[in-house]
Amino acid sequence: MSEINVLFVCLGNICRSPLAEAVFEHKLKLTGLNKKIMSDSCGTGAYHIGEQPDPRSVDVARAHQIPISHKARQLTEHDLEYFDYVIGMDDQNIRNIEVLASSTKDHIHKMRDFDSLGLGEDVPDPYFGGPRGFEEVFQMLDRSCDGLLQKIKEDHGLGK
Ligand code: 4NP
Repeated sequence: MSEINVLFVCLGNICRSPLAEAVFEHKLKLTGLNKKIMSDSCGTGAYHIGEQPDPRSVDVARAHQIPISHKARQLTEHDLEYFDYVIGMDDQNIRNIEVLASSTKDHIHKMRDFDSLGLGEDVPDPYFGGPRGFEEVFQMLDRSCDGLLQKIKEDHGLGK
């Protein structure tokens, strides 16, 4: 069992959060932290349960040589207890996550709170847009994952 568990959350769990998970896992492997830190993703909505990531998320991940594979699932109350870091992509996701959280909400964060360019902004929903939106989302997720990993390392004394 991993010591530190991170959950990425969006609406459908087919565009942003599985891409965030893929980018984060790739960074964990590169830094050798994949034994200590584990990640997963899910959606606040039920529309796409069981589906693979959107082909446009798959394409952008592949363009950056990042493996991606996930089966969409919906956020549960248990997730809020099990995961140490719960990372929502936008304000609406954060509100929906907080509704499910019974007591402490300290472990719920917004993805771009860790983005050096655009602190605190939403990761916009790219579902109804074109492939350029997915590349922009990828860049936001890439920067945010770096910032999030830095915070987790600081929180847990895992070195620089
Ligand atoms: P995601 O994108 O939340 O990044 O997975 C969406 C996927 C599907 C829908 C909305 C957003 N939808 O309305 O079906």
